Amino acid sequence: RAALAAELIGKTRTVPDWPAPGVQFRDITPLLADAGTLAAIVGAFADRYRNAGIAHVAGLEARGFILAPAIALAIGAGFIPVRKKGKLPWRTVEEQYQLEYGTATVEIHADACAPGERVLLIDDLIATGGTMMAALNLLRRLGADVVEGGAIVRLPELGGAARLQAAGLPLFTLCDFA
Ligand code: PRP
Ligand code: HPA
Repeated sequence: RAALAAELIGKTRTVPDWPAPGVQFRDITPLLADAGTLAAIVGAFADRYRNAGIAHVAGLEARGFILAPAIALAIGAGFIPVRKKGKLPWRTVEEQYQLEYGTATVEIHADACAPGERVLLIDDLIATGGTMMAALNLLRRLGADVVEGGAIVRLPELGGAARLQAAGLPLFTLCDFA
């Protein structure tokens, strides 16, 4: 764990003042581009959730879509897309939320999962936790048992992990940026 965290921190690219002044953007694309690092990331999640009875892995648009299907395949689960508003064709439920830099609405299909089913939430990064909180609320409205939230990076000073934990969602992240 510690060796992987150090590798991930070392390979993440920090872009100052993007997408808005004052934001230190943690860019994970170098982690995805490295074959060994990508395999280590997916492997770390697969090891944790392989025997956890997860029926669906829900990925958050857009960067959660990169990881969630890979993890789902590795653990024998299905994939659910949590999308930005206006992208899903059928009946949806929606939640609005605040971002570090703006506001947005996410949606899932109303039949995305069955009541009581065990669901894992996956994104690339937890900042304020607003995105994952919105996804958590959507899945709970459908009756899902949301087991945990997983992400590569956590930004502890933005308080997202504490907020999600207070809402009853445990978090599993592979590295922290102070
Ligand atoms: C980023 C990131 C997470 C979210 C984290 O996505 O990929 O989904 O913000 O921030 P939060 O914890 O404060 O909610 P963004 O909303 O920029 O959308 P994108 O993936 O479509 O670029
Ligand atoms: N990097 C990537 N996504 C983000 C960030 C960041 O620093 N902050 C909020 N979403």
